[in-house]
Amino acid sequence: MLDSPHEMYPSSLPMEDYGLILEIPDFFTSKELHSVQQKIQDYGQIDKKAHPYVTLDLDVPACEKSKWVSDNCQEIFDYFEDTFPTDYRFSRYNTRSDGYGSYERLQGNPMNMSGYPAHNDGGKCITILCPLSPDESLPTGFHGLDQMHPVRSVPWKINHAILFCPSNNYSWHSYIGSDKDRWIFHYNLFDRLVNIAPSK
Ligand SMILES: [Fe+2]
Repeated sequence: MLDSPHEMYPSSLPMEDYGLILEIPDFFTSKELHSVQQKIQDYGQIDKKAHPYVTLDLDVPACEKSKWVSDNCQEIFDYFEDTFPTDYRFSRYNTRSDGYGSYERLQGNPMNMSGYPAHNDGGKCITILCPLSPDESLPTGFHGLDQMHPVRSVPWKINHAILFCPSNNYSWHSYIGSDKDRWIFHYNLFDRLVNIAPSK
């Protein structure tokens, strides 16, 4: 079990096909959620030509739980390694002494955006995605081991986040626009503190 003060539990997607994906309910506190949703409201409509997204910067850490994840990443890595060992990015380099850096932002896809192709976030140690707006939209789709499985998702629910540790083989995912602008909180943990590049 992951020893966390925050509720986190494995999704119902079959681990042997889709790897280990954690769900984190109530990711933001109500005060934090109000603040990030206000930023989205203030931004207004996303230009339809923006592809695949626009971003809004946030202070780091963006919230209590993202801080906990950054501060306790080694516990998370150990839990993933123990629960479902595979070729994780975090295990590919011996970077423990180098530290880690998080990149946290709001990401908005314009309505009816064409699909962003499947990719595995292979350069990142942890990814968190948390739906923020609208109430109904299309969740990130997971393609399973080597993209060989039917696309499955954790249903879109405001403030209900997913967390996974990217690997070469299991973390293939994609997303697509829906009939309204689609906003998520996007967190990545990188295994170096410099050269943090924008991620998809
Ligand atoms: Fe991604």
